[in-house]
Amino acid sequence: MLKITNKEFARRRQQLMAQMEENSIAILPSAPVHIRNRDVEHKFRQDSDFYYLSGFPEAESVLVLIPGREHGEAVLFCRERDTTLELWHGYRYGQDGAIDQFAMDDAFPISDIDEILPGLIEGRDRMYYAMGYNRDFDNQIMTWVNTIKSKASQGAHPPGEFLALDHLLHDLRLYKSSGEVKLMREAGAISSRGHIRAMELCEPGVFEYQLEAELNHEFQRSGSRRAAYPSIVGSGNNGCILHYTENDSVVRNNDLVLIDAGCELDYYASDITRTFPANGRFNKEQRALYELVLKSQLAAIEKVQPGNHWNDPHEVVVEILTEGLLELGLLEGELSELITAEACRPFYMHRTGHWLGMDVHDVGDYKVGGEWRVLEPGMVLTIEPGIYIAPDYEAVPKRWRGIGIRIEDDVVVTRDGHEVLSAGAPKQIDKIESLMATAKARRELTS
Ligand code: GLY
Ligand code: MN
Ligand code: MN
Repeated sequence: MLKITNKEFARRRQQLMAQMEENSIAILPSAPVHIRNRDVEHKFRQDSDFYYLSGFPEAESVLVLIPGREHGEAVLFCRERDTTLELWHGYRYGQDGAIDQFAMDDAFPISDIDEILPGLIEGRDRMYYAMGYNRDFDNQIMTWVNTIKSKASQGAHPPGEFLALDHLLHDLRLYKSSGEVKLMREAGAISSRGHIRAMELCEPGVFEYQLEAELNHEFQRSGSRRAAYPSIVGSGNNGCILHYTENDSVVRNNDLVLIDAGCELDYYASDITRTFPANGRFNKEQRALYELVLKSQLAAIEKVQPGNHWNDPHEVVVEILTEGLLELGLLEGELSELITAEACRPFYMHRTGHWLGMDVHDVGDYKVGGEWRVLEPGMVLTIEPGIYIAPDYEAVPKRWRGIGIRIEDDVVVTRDGHEVLSAGAPKQIDKIESLMATAKARRELTS
């Protein structure tokens, strides 16, 4: 089973501490527990920043990094072991587990944090934390600082500077190591198999949620514990709703089915969209628009090269889609003017991608010093152009309406170009049609 190693978690902590200002401390809380309904909680998922630096999966934990501290730089506050509570709610690592299994230097019970943490903060000039994300945690930080202030007459001095942790940490997270890329490659392979399974099992009359079940089946049997985000399975008109997640319609003959779904593997996301015909054959309009989106997507992927800019893939997509829509008669005017005026926006209203990593819309700045970021090896991004013609979009003839198409792949920048991590999911029309025809023939033979 692929996993990030303790060595890599420790290396990340060292990298972060090496960039922190002198005599500083960083504090990161675990994710909060969310109530689903009454006394039922949502399944817990660790905070990505916290997990990135600790690998520790439990709630009610706080990670403290104190560069240069003699008794250990990486300190974890976590729940104590408790036989009765563990019998009811599950295993806890406890302080010994934090040290032995997660390579922490020091660990304390979370119930003692108000007594111990002010002493660790005291004397440090600067404090890094994620300001303004979690009101409870912001308040807690101030409580600890005030505890130190209240001892000012005894010579205690609280930090004078509070710095956002995000800048340093999120820049580290943007560059994926070979261990991270391995995981994301596997996540891409699992999700690709999920998409193939959904294509194979699709036929008119199936419900969208039944196709979602096929993806989840493939994810979990392959070692992924959850989807990286709520799956979108939109057939027909629903494919034109960008964030459609109801997935409760019946798939009809002649509909396209747009599936945007990816698994999360050891906290790393994949994010894949494929669009295919419910009955296994694209009709004329669907085919024309699909070929256009695919052409733009392939050209955008070619732009993923070290040295190119973040926006290069988007620019080429806008050019190709505009040109194609003009050729199909869905836009009218002069090409260069249409491109400048972003005339394709009624058909293509989102951007071509985003960073991908532990979060599906991953951290990392898109601009540096006001300029689009230069792509560098280890960055992972999605390339996901689309065309969406809503059923009530009366500016075009009726036969074009109710068609929603997106094709999305996950791409890592390599030293000499790129690698598509989601290449296992077919996207050429002939591949999709033959895969679906074979599956249909098999179904008919066994029914
Ligand atoms: N699945 C979310 C996105 O494609 O950005
Ligand atoms: Mn997506
Ligand atoms: Mn995406």
